[in-house]
Amino acid sequence: MPARLAVDFTGLRFDNPFLLASAPPTESDSNIMRAFDAGWGGVVTKTIGLHPVVNVAGPKTKFLRATPESGQLSMQKRTGAALHSSWNWELISDKPMDWWLPKLARIKKAHPDRILVASIMAGSGSDRELQNWQTLATSCQDAGADAFELNLSCPHMDREDMGSNIGKNQKLISTVTQAVKEVAKVPIWAKLTPSTTDVVLEARAAFAGGADAISSSNTFPSLPLVDPESLEFEMNVDGLVSYGGLGGPAILPQSLAKIGQLTTALPDKSFSGIGGIAEFPHALNYVLLGCGTVQVCTAAMLDHAIGPNVIKSLKAGMAEFMDRKHYGSLEQFRGLLRDRVVPHSQIRRPDEKDYRGGYDTEGYAKGEQVGTSKTVGTRD
Ligand SMILES: Cc1cc2nc3c(=O)[nH]c(=O)nc-3n(C[C@H](O)[C@H](O)[C@H](O)COP(=O)(O)O)c2cc1C
Repeated sequence: MPARLAVDFTGLRFDNPFLLASAPPTESDSNIMRAFDAGWGGVVTKTIGLHPVVNVAGPKTKFLRATPESGQLSMQKRTGAALHSSWNWELISDKPMDWWLPKLARIKKAHPDRILVASIMAGSGSDRELQNWQTLATSCQDAGADAFELNLSCPHMDREDMGSNIGKNQKLISTVTQAVKEVAKVPIWAKLTPSTTDVVLEARAAFAGGADAISSSNTFPSLPLVDPESLEFEMNVDGLVSYGGLGGPAILPQSLAKIGQLTTALPDKSFSGIGGIAEFPHALNYVLLGCGTVQVCTAAMLDHAIGPNVIKSLKAGMAEFMDRKHYGSLEQFRGLLRDRVVPHSQIRRPDEKDYRGGYDTEGYAKGEQVGTSKTVGTRD
């Protein structure tokens, strides 16, 4: 594969911009070795923590499929149905840090030129928890990790000081990032949750704490659908369900919106795009908005657990695209469409009349006019 697929991202050289995201495809050394053999430019390990982890008594991930003719959405397997999304309520790695460390070293020894990112997670409610972040960071970097991805986005944590609960609190984001920065000798990526109002605020907090890049998105909060016959959630344990995370094709446009918000607000910063990528055109969307790398989970899970065919087609698709468009490197098209994402009022109106987003200057956003057709017309 041509060297021009290579990218520099947060000071690291990647063979290609395609990474396996932190998830089951990267839950073991054997998977990660297979992933590198298959051609992935980097991997983010399944999140490593220090607290005990016990998963639910039942399946942790299922896939929702749509039937083209009827529009039926269900987790039940049936012929002719197309993948809509993955739904999971899996916690972080249930293997302790001591299980991971020798494996990180072995992976790095076998593949010194591939990028191994350690995803790490601890709490934030006490100095001891902040020290846990530092213990994880120093141990993983000593074992050979090339970078950290701080999991500030796991949607399944009841603890108020962990996972996406950190990612919803700008102060905690800065505090945790800063704690890791104090000991880090390698770049820090902060993986943010999509379940906040303005992800730019959380990104600014991470950069203020010393992050080198933002990874976005983790899965979107969601519930499984109810089976209309049994009146049970399609995924449940003893009839009970909890909020889980949606990934795969369904979240591609939503994750792109998050990336659009981030890269237009912070055009000089580094971003790793995640969400719904299975083919090169999906990845291209993220790059055109300004991402320097992209990550894949759901599509890889469905392709021999680590996505050998997915990475083959991503690399071939990118090489073919670059040949066809005469690009010599990803940098030549990274961010090309970022400035095309603009406020609604900047989109041309058919009759060329001025429109300023429904503000007073136009004379029809005043209180007494609420409910008139003109005011209604200004709503989205
Ligand atoms: C079963 C499963 C487990 C996951 N575990 C983690 C995890 O441990 N840490 C993490 O940061 N993200 C985790 N994720 C989120 C993925 O890394 C990724 O952000 C998300 O699935 C969106 O990408 P996709 O659309 O390619 O699936 C997990 C996702 C799935 C489906």
